[in-house]
Amino acid sequence: MKREEFLKYPELGEKQLYEALERAWGQTRFALERFGTDFKHIFSTNQFYTKAENNQWTNGFWTGELWLAYECTGDPCFRDAAMAHTVSFRERAERRIETDTHDLGFLYSPSCVAAYKLTGDKNARETALLAADMLLERFHEKGQFLQAWGSLDDPGNYRLIIDCLLNLPLLYWASAETGDDKYREKAQAHVRTALEVLIRPDYSAYHTFYFDPETGAPLRGVTHQGYSADSAWARGQAWGIYGIALSYRYTRDPAYEALFEYVADYFIEHLPENLIPYWDFVFTDGSSEPRDSSASAVAACGMLEMARFLPKEKADFYVGAAKRLMKALCDQCAVRGPEESDGQLLHGVYGRKTPYNDCIDHGIDECNLWGDYYYAEGLVRLSREWNPYW
Ligand code: GLY
Repeated sequence: MKREEFLKYPELGEKQLYEALERAWGQTRFALERFGTDFKHIFSTNQFYTKAENNQWTNGFWTGELWLAYECTGDPCFRDAAMAHTVSFRERAERRIETDTHDLGFLYSPSCVAAYKLTGDKNARETALLAADMLLERFHEKGQFLQAWGSLDDPGNYRLIIDCLLNLPLLYWASAETGDDKYREKAQAHVRTALEVLIRPDYSAYHTFYFDPETGAPLRGVTHQGYSADSAWARGQAWGIYGIALSYRYTRDPAYEALFEYVADYFIEHLPENLIPYWDFVFTDGSSEPRDSSASAVAACGMLEMARFLPKEKADFYVGAAKRLMKALCDQCAVRGPEESDGQLLHGVYGRKTPYNDCIDHGIDECNLWGDYYYAEGLVRLSREWNPYW
């Protein structure tokens, strides 16, 4: 969609924002009553979540939603549940339960870093530092990147993915806390490598990129959850937007400011008429493929993050863009009440199988934990000065 067309869409107004926030915390309260201190599965089934162990890449998002609810309502029930989760996250880090992944930032920033920032809890700080150390182990000197998934000595896993940009704030935070630059240096090296290979000349993004384990040289872009290697997976593009904004915050490299605009504008220009992106931008208006509301929530948060550092005119544009995305989500995807779901945001997609990717069909047209979390974060960002967990 052309920028002029996009600008005709209404922005989320104050009244609707505060109603949405109130409804969101009602949903968090309802889910808390159902789940107690248990965790939720990655995505809902028929819009309701099942219980899960703390062994998935998404566990931090439900904890993060509880922290957001605590910050906005001051109700200690949210804080107490989130603090109980930090004990589970400590055990997970110490016993290395499913920690063979770059997702340590997704897990530990909205849970333990948030707990430390909001309560000063020393155990949460130590736990987040343990996670940062584990994430650092995944750095390959030869390739200068953090490996996404699996065993570090498996050449078939010698790759990075765009989602990892959201894991880097855990490393920047660890350097700031300890005074040890090693975390920051590796984060900076990773983002340099990642953005060099992942962003294509048209500013769409590859999902994953393989390197040669012998030489560390870049090899090829491949998708895992997108439609095909060369398509633009909507959520990957959104991880790029938010990840570049965070990289700018931590490095102040002007190259990231320029790149942010191109990558964000690609997202806006490929939105369909109702502003809820299809799960991959290869699909356009008229397609019967599902939408991925979570991509929009992530992109909106990234735009709001970057706007804090942009000159006024550009900041106004991206805040306005985020308000348009959030209005579309509030109107078309937000859960109306407990009878409908125990999540926040309907119409997400976790994975959709195609002949050209290697994922399975799951979590299609359902809530998912990051969609819920980033939708709530977007509302919070629009309603107050917020100190990010990232
Ligand atoms: N980071 C995994 C996903 O976005 O599905």
